[in-house]
Amino acid sequence: MTITKSNVQIRKEWDIVGARQMGRELAKDVGFGTVDQARIATAVSELARNIYLYAEKGQIIYEIIEDINKKGLKIIATDDGPGIQDVSKIMEDGFSTSGGLGAGLPGVKRLMDYFDIDSVPGRGTNIITVKWVR
Ligand SMILES: Nc1ncnc2c1ncn2[C@@H]1O[C@H](COP(=O)(O)OP(=O)(O)OP(=O)(O)O)[C@@H](O)[C@H]1O
Ligand SMILES: [Mg+2]
Repeated sequence: MTITKSNVQIRKEWDIVGARQMGRELAKDVGFGTVDQARIATAVSELARNIYLYAEKGQIIYEIIEDINKKGLKIIATDDGPGIQDVSKIMEDGFSTSGGLGAGLPGVKRLMDYFDIDSVPGRGTNIITVKWVR
């Protein structure tokens, strides 16, 4: 199995745009069609926006995963921010208040094939998502 890694630091609002663009480009490289490229770009911007808003800084790590019968894009959002008190509550639909296109973390979960969140109050948040092209 080969893994190709790249990453984007999130420190200022503009970094969200850069992370989104990089997500879309990598999705295209991996072989996703335009609809999945848009899904991935949306998921990345939701994750990056959360880092910027709630943790101030962090990073988005991209891993292209490929072996003989599997190929996909793994997106890790990681920060050392305040963490989330009640993860199960924020994963309920209707928790996020903005009503934006991505619909918060439950939206990210829907857009991707795999979603896992690990958050420790006072320590930070780690979110792992994967989308498979095959
Ligand atoms: N990286 C993070 N660090 C700390 N808290 C976070 C982080 N990401 C999310 N949260 C908390 O989880 C809540 C839910 O996040 P989610 O993205 O689902 O919705 P939202 O950001 O409130 O609204 P929306 O994303 O729809 O604009 C946030 O309001 C915030 O309190
Ligand atoms: Mg959000």
